Amino acid sequence: MATDVVTMEKIVSLCKRRGFIFPSSEIYGGIGSSYDYGHYGVLLKNNVKAQWWRSLLQERDDVVALDSAIIQHPRTWEASGHLAGFTDPLVDCRTCKLRFRADKLEDGACGRKPSKRPGETSECDLTEPRNFNLMFQTTVGPVQDEGSVVFLRPETAQGIFLNFKHYLQFARKKPPFGIAQIGKSFRNEITPGNFVFRMREFEQMEMEFFVPPQDAQRWHEHWLKERYDWYVNLGIRADHLRLREHEQDELSHYSSATSDVEYLYPIGWQELEGIANRGDFDLSQHAQHSGQKLEYVDTVTGERYIPYVIEPAAGADRATLAFLVDAYDEDEIEGETRTVLRLHPQLAPVKVAVLPLVKKDGQPELAREIERELRERMQVEYDEGGAIGRRYRRQDEIGTPWAITVDHQTLEDRTVTLRDRDSLEQVRIGIDELADELERRLRAPWRSPKLSD
Ligand code: GAP
Repeated sequence: MATDVVTMEKIVSLCKRRGFIFPSSEIYGGIGSSYDYGHYGVLLKNNVKAQWWRSLLQERDDVVALDSAIIQHPRTWEASGHLAGFTDPLVDCRTCKLRFRADKLEDGACGRKPSKRPGETSECDLTEPRNFNLMFQTTVGPVQDEGSVVFLRPETAQGIFLNFKHYLQFARKKPPFGIAQIGKSFRNEITPGNFVFRMREFEQMEMEFFVPPQDAQRWHEHWLKERYDWYVNLGIRADHLRLREHEQDELSHYSSATSDVEYLYPIGWQELEGIANRGDFDLSQHAQHSGQKLEYVDTVTGERYIPYVIEPAAGADRATLAFLVDAYDEDEIEGETRTVLRLHPQLAPVKVAVLPLVKKDGQPELAREIERELRERMQVEYDEGGAIGRRYRRQDEIGTPWAITVDHQTLEDRTVTLRDRDSLEQVRIGIDELADELERRLRAPWRSPKLSD
């Protein structure tokens, strides 16, 4: 297998070329760090999110779902501490007029060429850091006054805390249990960048797991392992994944302990997901600010307590990017370089391509018949344009794990060839067995072929 050849430039270029992800508003010159997901990007990210839901809702019986509003009562953010504390230190350079995060100057580049780091030369004239709140502000209703100011949520988590009481009352939930949701969050990042890694509008997959306080440590460890394993089981190479515990001075205002799942992106080791012990911070704060009791009461024993919260908080875009990076590969076939996404079949946007060898002799008609049948069971793509080798390459580039070719023999004995994206092995198989065989392969355990044995 080829060695790791991936760079962020190659990922960005592939995403644009094959319609995974485009810079947003490009016809107007783009808008900084906003991206639009195209057809294959939507399919891929949907598969990532579906696997996340599956691991929590289908494979366990102690997590339930929620889809809360993006705009919540403004007092939410007073109680949560975001109004006062969700800030980054900002510095301006009076010389190049650019803005930087004071705590991440080494990641910035000042406006002069050749590019230097802010503060690196005597020409740099940086202001003192001042705190900048990352929440986007807007107004509700036709009159814009102080009373109409609201915020776009900077994390999905708060919607879960606001609904905690409903789950106790109507679903009769008893800790330990979790509430999960996927949705958009918004942060006015000072230095967004690195493609979909840091955007101002992004999607989070968060779960708040409510536990008796004395069990919090044990559940924290449980979720660290669960979430790490989730990535590995979906094909991320373990040597590109690690858990890193936060230092005391890195902890968010609500957290008593956090560990990040980090991935080795082309830009280095970076946070993919944070798993925090939020203690009873959020429920206590909302109880205090709303005047409502947000506690669990055991109706049999009379025991009452405010549950502690363990929170695995992942980014759907960062996860999608990690899967893309980990899957990207190049090899050589018949003297030509092939770009291939070695995605876990469950994540691949398209599971199988149906390709007639030639555009005549009844092959397209039979291929269409096979396509229609498979379409009922999985995402399929039909392609009859161009030489067969080129069509295979097109599918390899978007990560399609299998390709079916209809040829002259198919018309005689109703068998097709089934080609594997990674091993390139081709087997002959009856049309009637195809769907079952593909489903069997989809369910089989999978390991990245980029891993050496
Ligand atoms: N509720 C906790 C929370 O929001 P976080 O570490 O700030 O914690 C959780 O965010 C995850 O959301 C991150 O690990 C990352 O995957 C994703 N995320 C955060 N900011 C992001 C951004 N600007 N662009 C893309 N993803 C982001």
